[in-house]
Amino acid sequence: MTQGTGRCRAHTNIALIKYWGKQDEQLFLPMNSSLSLTLNAFYTDTKVTLDQALKQDVFLLNHQKQSAEQTLKISNFLDLFRHKYSISAKICVESINHVPTAAGLASSASAFAALAGAINEAARLNIGLQELSTFARRGSGSATRSIFGGFVEWQKGTCSTDSFAIPLDDAAWDIGMLIVVVNHREKIISSRQGMKRTVETSPFYPAWVKSSEKDLVEMKKAIVTKDFSKIGELAESSALKMHATMLSAQPPFTYFEPDSIRVIQRVQELRKKGLECYLTMDAGPNVKILCRLTDMDKLKQELSTEFSQDQMILSGVGSGIHSLSENE
Ligand code: PMV
Repeated sequence: MTQGTGRCRAHTNIALIKYWGKQDEQLFLPMNSSLSLTLNAFYTDTKVTLDQALKQDVFLLNHQKQSAEQTLKISNFLDLFRHKYSISAKICVESINHVPTAAGLASSASAFAALAGAINEAARLNIGLQELSTFARRGSGSATRSIFGGFVEWQKGTCSTDSFAIPLDDAAWDIGMLIVVVNHREKIISSRQGMKRTVETSPFYPAWVKSSEKDLVEMKKAIVTKDFSKIGELAESSALKMHATMLSAQPPFTYFEPDSIRVIQRVQELRKKGLECYLTMDAGPNVKILCRLTDMDKLKQELSTEFSQDQMILSGVGSGIHSLSENE
């Protein structure tokens, strides 16, 4: 295959049972299985063009040509497909990130899932979604789960071919997330560095892996029974346990900022007052609050005494990857 074009959209996802730590850094094999909710508010649209006439790969993000370093990351990812499917053409990648301005949310999950989907289409590879998730994984761990919509499990597996995502439930229920943007600056410690340090130095790390496996079993049961409270409790606990492994790493680190703590306290207070909501946080200071869609406006109103309108982003549940037509 030397010519061809493909377009794909992928939504981002937020883990409810977190992935933190790799057993194989090259292959992105995780230490523990994880489970997420795909969100509709944030997505990446990517167009891939295979072009024999190009001398090297080109990467445009939001219409801007990216640096050699950024392009190399993309080229290395594309090489996984080129090697396996004997594709010789260089590739032009054009991505648009639809993340509300200054959201400060990582877009690597939707980015690599959309890229995997677009190359699958451009080169007419016909890779099934489960296998495609193993490719997305090699770009960024959380991208594995963005291939599917709703609740998604990333089974850690034992090797590169069986560490993939499976869709669990489309989550077309009364459920959503409110994201409080505390700080949109680039994070100081990347998730890759943070995980490595935690795995290597935190005495709590083995306990984290053990309790994650248990939480995952409980979470899957709660999804089957549509038990929103249990889902929320498990999600909040998974996030806080993950952050505790960072505090116990050597040297210790944290993604919490003073405003993150303020949101955590507000969420816990609101819950006591009867507004059911639960928090989760990733490798950054922003706080994501799981709530019922029907409670979202109330929650936003409660938080607006302390946080501005543009710090709060509401999201419902997102779908899996899908191809885009010329004019989308
Ligand atoms: O996608 P990565 O490799 O940058 O790791 C993301 C890790 C967390 O967002 C903190 C947790 C998760 O499961 O998404």
